[in-house]
Amino acid sequence: MKINIFYFTGTGNSLLIANEIERVFVNRGHECQLINIEKVTSPDCSKCNMIGLVFPVAIQSTFPNVWKFIKALPESKGTKVFMADTLMSFSGGVVGPAKKILDKKGYECIGSIEIKMGNSMMTVDKDIDYKSISDKAVKEAGSYANDILDGKTEWAKTSISQVLMKSFSNGRLFGRLIVKR
Ligand SMILES: Cc1cc2nc3c(=O)[nH]c(=O)nc-3n(C[C@H](O)[C@H](O)[C@H](O)COP(=O)(O)O)c2cc1C
Repeated sequence: MKINIFYFTGTGNSLLIANEIERVFVNRGHECQLINIEKVTSPDCSKCNMIGLVFPVAIQSTFPNVWKFIKALPESKGTKVFMADTLMSFSGGVVGPAKKILDKKGYECIGSIEIKMGNSMMTVDKDIDYKSISDKAVKEAGSYANDILDGKTEWAKTSISQVLMKSFSNGRLFGRLIVKR
């Protein structure tokens, strides 16, 4: 298969996961390209059998540039798509809303995963073993990649709370609360 993995990363966690998924795909004989969404204006998936979306969670959803990218994906006649987001603890408004957009465009949503990772916002007093958190996350990504190729993944179900969470997180009201204009 020819697979493009589109990723966005701020502090490197999502890239770590995207790299591991790519490693498994290539090891199993597939052609895989990692593409930073910041370097793409109009994504071309026409020659791909499958695409992947890997990005961080932000404010219970994801960053506006990631939504902009997903919305800019071309229409498809059933190209398989998987997603993996990285997060500290909880997302709420990503997995279901992303599927809604991709379904509408004609993609076949085959798998979603949310992978917990360490990050610089962990403000607890006790020492955090970042290495073991990230080793575990990479392992999880590797087995997810194998499951994708073996047809064992699913896209998690959407709930109304996810839709509401995304609307709040990416809405003007929230933007106005956190950005002084
Ligand atoms: C602005 C901002 C908002 C975040 N919001 C959430 C959140 O709502 N839920 C969560 O579990 N993690 C949240 N995180 C943690 C990131 O999702 C996590 O560290 C992620 O792995 C970062 O990925 P990256 O290194 O690829 O940028 C947030 C991080 C930042 C910087």
